[in-house]
Amino acid sequence: MIYTSSVALLGVVSLANAHGYLTIPKSRVRLGFEAGTDTCPECTIQEPVSPWPDLDAALVGRNGPCGYNARVSVDYNQPGKAWGNEPVATYQAGDVIDVQWCVDNNGDHGGMFSYRICQDQALVDKFLTPGYLPTDAEKQAAEDCFENGVLDCTDVSGQTCGFNPDCQQGQPCWRNDWFTCNAFQADSRRGCQGVDGAALGSCKTTIAGGYTVTKKIKIPNYVSNHTLLSFRWNSFQTAQIYVNCADIRITAGSGGSPSPPAASSSTAATSATPTISKSATTASPSCTPVSTVSVTFNDLVTTSVGQTIKIVGSIPQLGNWDPSAAPSLSASQYTNSNPKWSATVSLPAGTTFQYKFVNVASNGAVTWESDPNRSYTVPTGCSSTAVVDAKWK
Ligand SMILES: *[C@@H]1O[C@H](CO)[C@@H](O)[C@H](O)[C@H]1NC(C)=O
Ligand SMILES: *[C@@H]1O[C@H](CO)[C@@H](O)[C@H](O)[C@H]1NC(C)=O
Repeated sequence: MIYTSSVALLGVVSLANAHGYLTIPKSRVRLGFEAGTDTCPECTIQEPVSPWPDLDAALVGRNGPCGYNARVSVDYNQPGKAWGNEPVATYQAGDVIDVQWCVDNNGDHGGMFSYRICQDQALVDKFLTPGYLPTDAEKQAAEDCFENGVLDCTDVSGQTCGFNPDCQQGQPCWRNDWFTCNAFQADSRRGCQGVDGAALGSCKTTIAGGYTVTKKIKIPNYVSNHTLLSFRWNSFQTAQIYVNCADIRITAGSGGSPSPPAASSSTAATSATPTISKSATTASPSCTPVSTVSVTFNDLVTTSVGQTIKIVGSIPQLGNWDPSAAPSLSASQYTNSNPKWSATVSLPAGTTFQYKFVNVASNGAVTWESDPNRSYTVPTGCSSTAVVDAKWK
């Protein structure tokens, strides 16, 4: 009987909200719920939108990258008493970490989800300023930056990154850099709850009980004392996207930088703690900041034979906006299902610049990406490499 009534309810709820929220690291929404400000953390939603099959198409509107909960009129894009004022977790660049969200039993509409980091600190800072509510344009600019900073499922070696069973080959959702829920109509382990196959009530929602959805992501080579990890879920069944964020800190990783010589001798006084020698990565706080970073720009763009993708921008290394002087990307990793163009450019740490990708035809005709310009700041820290993932717009 219980099963029957929950199936009936599902039909009703499908006309209303999808339900889920980022739980690990603790999102602003979760903190609002724990503080009693928010009575339905799984109800922060942007609708109606077109979430499928083009996962990147839906605009975030007032929902922004951190969420607006219309039920309780709380805008999580602005720091509040219980959230947004300090990081809730500290990670190291290059770390592989567990992240989790919680899907409600009556709002499991299947689909795909992603985790993102925007490496434009000036944009992110607008969401960290007490008393400041970002404009809708700033919310969208940040969202676009997060879209360019998808932490690919495939970045984590050994992780299964499949194609969504509800998506057909050739559709824009046919991509495995995002994480996918199970088939929406599956008999068991269906929808997003099928990802973990977790028990009902394994995480907390207020409507019908939640199921955890756990994945691994790789923290990029980016250093920030306070930035945001964004979660975005595109519902398959309903015209909804679900976006929220968690405040995090990212410290310099060990990747790309040699271990500092003899630095460990200064820790001798505390070496009684066995974890000191646990691994080389613990030495990173004393690593040497780099002056130049090899930044790899990846651009997903379907091209035809004879076309070349270039990256043109406001600095000499990117041709000072002159396409004929700009570096070309390589199509060596290009496949039909993953049309990736890529180039690695050596840039001074800390440089901020604007850029666009251009498509140059064999007769020399240049097609520019749409506005606005993209912007990027080369990370300062100890890592000599950084990656920017983008998609032609
Ligand atoms: C982070 O904060 C520390 C201590 O205030 C400061 O020394 C450091 O420069 C900051 N790092 C970044 C990337 O802003
Ligand atoms: C992009 O940058 C170019 C070169 O500085 C500038 O002319 C153009 O107005 C910029 N586009 C936008 C939308 O800001």
